[in-house]
Amino acid sequence: MADIRGVETLMSVTYDIAARDFVRAGEAANKLKRLLQQLGLDPAVIRRAAIAAYEAEMNVVIHSYGGQMKVDITPETIEILCQDSGPGIPDIEQALQEGYSTASEEIREMGFGAGMGLPNIQRSADQFQIESTVGQGTTLHVTILHEAGE
Ligand SMILES: Nc1ncnc2c1ncn2[C@@H]1O[C@H](COP(=O)(O)OP(=O)(O)O)[C@@H](O)[C@H]1O
Ligand SMILES: [Mg+2]
Repeated sequence: MADIRGVETLMSVTYDIAARDFVRAGEAANKLKRLLQQLGLDPAVIRRAAIAAYEAEMNVVIHSYGGQMKVDITPETIEILCQDSGPGIPDIEQALQEGYSTASEEIREMGFGAGMGLPNIQRSADQFQIESTVGQGTTLHVTILHEAGE
């Protein structure tokens, strides 16, 4: 299947992410990890993709009204597109700072809210984009390269 850029998409999967569902939280990232393992990708690449997917998923669970993660796997890349339906991030620069978190006390008691999710996504990604509009939602786009020989 050729996409708009003419890059061949080997596989495309979409996972729904429910807000506040701490029973299923992490499921999308786990399924993606298993899929990448089945495809036989480099363990270091899989690890980076799994970290980015997990942190993106948890942010949707914890901070948003719910959303979706769409992953396209091409011969050279893993593209993770994570979108939610709000409330959006008022100050993205602040949100990207290490240790910055708006997580509630209740969430922190569950072991989340260290404020390292977005910085870890950035570190794991070869390309990273985040767009957010208050009242509309947040879109995170992560690209991880996995070309043979890397
Ligand atoms: N999908 C999202 N929707 C709304 N706010 C978000 C989203 N993702 C991140 N944020 C905001 O950015 C902050 C930093 O995110 P992150 O680095 O993952 O830390 P943490 O999740 O531990 O708070 C969050 O506390 C939250 O305020
Ligand atoms: Mg987070």
